[in-house]
Amino acid sequence: MARFTSSMLEQIRLINIATIIEPYVELRSRGRDLWGLCPFHDEKSPSFKVDSEKGFFKCFGCDAKGDGITFIMHRLGFSYQDAVIYLAEKYGINIEYDGEENSHSKDIISLHDEIQKISRKLFYTSAGEEARKYISDRSFNDDDFNEFGIGFLSGDVNYSTVYKMFPKDILYNSGFFKESKYGAPYARFFNRLMLPIKNVTGSIAAFAGRSLDGSNPKYLNSAESSVFHKGYTLFNIDKAKDAMKQSRNALIVEGYFDVMRLYKSGFKNAVAPMGTALTYEQIALLKRYAEEITVIFDGDSAGEKAAFRSLERFAESGLFPKVVFLPQTDDPDSYILNYGIDSFKSLYGKREDLFIHMIKRLALSAKNDFNIKLVRFKSVKDMLAKIENLHMKDYYIEAAADIFGLKKENIQEELAVNRYKKNAVVNKSVNKNLYLCEMDFMACLSHLPVDIVDGLLADMNLEMINNNEIKSILKKILEFLPKISDIKDITHELGEQFVELAMREIAEDSAYDEALKNKRQIELNYLKKRQSELIDLMRTTTDKTAQISILQELNNLTKLIAGKNKDGE
Ligand code: GTP
Ligand code: MN
Repeated sequence: MARFTSSMLEQIRLINIATIIEPYVELRSRGRDLWGLCPFHDEKSPSFKVDSEKGFFKCFGCDAKGDGITFIMHRLGFSYQDAVIYLAEKYGINIEYDGEENSHSKDIISLHDEIQKISRKLFYTSAGEEARKYISDRSFNDDDFNEFGIGFLSGDVNYSTVYKMFPKDILYNSGFFKESKYGAPYARFFNRLMLPIKNVTGSIAAFAGRSLDGSNPKYLNSAESSVFHKGYTLFNIDKAKDAMKQSRNALIVEGYFDVMRLYKSGFKNAVAPMGTALTYEQIALLKRYAEEITVIFDGDSAGEKAAFRSLERFAESGLFPKVVFLPQTDDPDSYILNYGIDSFKSLYGKREDLFIHMIKRLALSAKNDFNIKLVRFKSVKDMLAKIENLHMKDYYIEAAADIFGLKKENIQEELAVNRYKKNAVVNKSVNKNLYLCEMDFMACLSHLPVDIVDGLLADMNLEMINNNEIKSILKKILEFLPKISDIKDITHELGEQFVELAMREIAEDSAYDEALKNKRQIELNYLKKRQSELIDLMRTTTDKTAQISILQELNNLTKLIAGKNKDGE
């Protein structure tokens, strides 16, 4: 069977496991972990733990455990392959297989290597003179060009050798070439200073091109491809990761030139996103190498807004960053050029906790008006509610109480009341646990005559059964049914799990009613699961025809579900 590429699985592992599990289990924080009622066995008090940092769940009641992929396999009854594909589709990760498709990714990287050679060569020709001058005007030297592989692509580059080396699908899927209306490839970049964007291992995943003549856009990135996902990429991560491991600190800045300036000035641990807002996955990547993250923003109000917007991602990641705000008109690059690296170091030395900074700013903006203060406090409270780690939560509640002049106990109570309200709504819709239904269904069958069992299983789609063991037992029963007069005769064939199930206490005279009830519940659960998948799909699909067919299936499902609910009355 084809294997997924390690880079694809790596991306799947970066998804916050809590966001994978949340649709199925109501999670509450206790300590540094999240807890909920285990979806794999029936229980009244939570013994199901989710550790977002490690990316694992574990149930102390039934010993179910694993990562996000395992969770989806167990919960939705998927095979490993299907669970990976399901998550990839849900989180917009490209599906790549080792072998054929992996060679596709490898080809894209080789294509980038070829382009890199061209861009480096052109940089040093007369065509690249303007680019070289631009870079040295910005106070970078030959060593810096080499370190970052800075190059140049003019408007008349001859790519014929590249066209000969790679098939068209590689050219177009690389995100570097576009297809003209005559069906010929042409480069997305011309007359641009070229910065290779590398992945963690140092392969060129994409390019960023900066215009030299003030034309727009100022920066252009390669289109996304199987090897380039903006939200997972950080400029300079390949080099910065080693520096992060040593200092345990990471710096996040906004621009590519900021990264290069900091690198040159001794801060090799700086990275920048691709001109987009920070994502959870980018923070998760940094957390692998660093214990402290500092974000550096412009000191203007836009910089402050961007800083506050990033807070939510950090709260979810369980690590609040430090922040350095630069004077109004400066970015790290211009600041260091204007005031020197020592001045930057002293600013960095005064870095402040971003969340505390936000709390202070909001409190200050209330100008001692108590009512405005309460309005401002609402956004602090929302952020507090997002913190999973209890110690961390306590720390910030205390700070917020102090800064806003409110009672800590009142804040705690308010947060607890809000959480209770949220859970109350969710709990109303909780059905009998699916696994329990399947076990009971199975157990009932073992008490029923074979012709009745035959009738119950005849019109049942076994794909609806979530638990793989139960599914395989039912399949075996179906196989044997025509040849036996009592299911107990094949106990041996059906294995230990069946023996355990057959021993579950079921009143003989209500076995049929119970079986029917559980069967209906299994079908209902299955239909509802499909319904919520379709609703998810509907939200993400933009294709009109696809939308229509989703709506049709949803319509049918709604009718079926209404029918089943009626049966149950
Ligand atoms: P320099 O002017 O070269 O110093 O760039 P800068 O990094 O200081 O520019 P700025 O603060 O305007 O932008 C920060 C980051 O946003 C850049 O490094 C890019 O990643 C991204 N960015 C800026 N302008 C554009 C644009 O026009 N298009 C795209 N796609 N990204 C941009
Ligand atoms: Mn700049």
